[in-house]
Amino acid sequence: MKLIALLLSISTLVNAQDLLKNVVPFRLGASVNPRLLAENEAYRNIASNEFTSMTAENHMKMMLIHPAADRFDFSKGDEIVAFAEKTGKRMHGHTLVWHNQVPQWMKDFQGDQKAWEAMLKNHIQTVVTHYKGRVSGWDVVNESFLDDGSLRPSLWADHIPDYIAKSFQWAHEADPNATLFYNDYGQDGHPKKMQAILDLVADLQKRKIPIHGLGLQMHINVDSKRAEIQEVISKSVQTGLSIHFSELDIAVNPKNNPEYSYEASAQNELFTFVFKAYGAIPAKQQYGITFWNVTDKDSWLRGYFKRPKEYPLLFDETYVKKQGYHTLVNFLQHAK
Ligand code: XIL
Repeated sequence: MKLIALLLSISTLVNAQDLLKNVVPFRLGASVNPRLLAENEAYRNIASNEFTSMTAENHMKMMLIHPAADRFDFSKGDEIVAFAEKTGKRMHGHTLVWHNQVPQWMKDFQGDQKAWEAMLKNHIQTVVTHYKGRVSGWDVVNESFLDDGSLRPSLWADHIPDYIAKSFQWAHEADPNATLFYNDYGQDGHPKKMQAILDLVADLQKRKIPIHGLGLQMHINVDSKRAEIQEVISKSVQTGLSIHFSELDIAVNPKNNPEYSYEASAQNELFTFVFKAYGAIPAKQQYGITFWNVTDKDSWLRGYFKRPKEYPLLFDETYVKKQGYHTLVNFLQHAK
């Protein structure tokens, strides 16, 4: 028995070196779905073993966590936080203020500016307070700019002047220890959007508004231009803020060609590029890299965008590590 135990622990040790999370010096995360965590053992095992940070894919968003004006539903968010704690991971909060996945009662809300502010402040502070000390960082505001750099029209922009700064302040009041992020996508190839975000950061910093991090979602695809991605990273790093690649996936079939058959090499190379570029960020600014869900099967690109022939992550639909996973581990082991 002892021998078997010894052999098992040796093999765990050997394999441990092959885990992606063990060859990166920063947090490696995934967003997760609580139903899959509860019901699907293979999913749960990967989520448990492969990552050191966790994000709720949907269950901390306004629509799910605050379904009625006088009711919050923390049940699913709590399940994810409990899982993260049990398996020794950091929990990242996503997201307090967004134009999407807003409950109907908020859309129907009536009131003057003061009433809107009180409503949003109550939302932010109740959620942040509930998770105080258990969630390390928050995506406070998500996706506020359009590709042309203008402020995205939304409930919040329409009713609350300066809602971004106010949201950061309210979140900070509720948990002064939380790392507070502005999170957005698609700055690569959209220089005006990138500039708007950099201007926002500079403005908040000048006004001493507590912003601590920039989330670059990194929903990219095999045609994304490396020089553009690198430019976004470099400019973001220059703000001095923590940088989170917060929702990484690499689409291989962005035009949803029904005849598409999976070809790994361009994707593998781009994953390597992304990890290499992240590795070059000063360590104190590395909040981590988070994948947007765990396996190709669970990706929002298949579900939300209805692209069945999409393979954007590092685990396949049978919950097996893809070639890209091994390529990345191999690259990172030798890059050390
Ligand atoms: C997506 C989820 O993955 C889907 O399940 C949901 O239906 C819609 O939202 N940017 C974000 C995330 O900040 O919250 C989005 O998540 C993906 C784009």
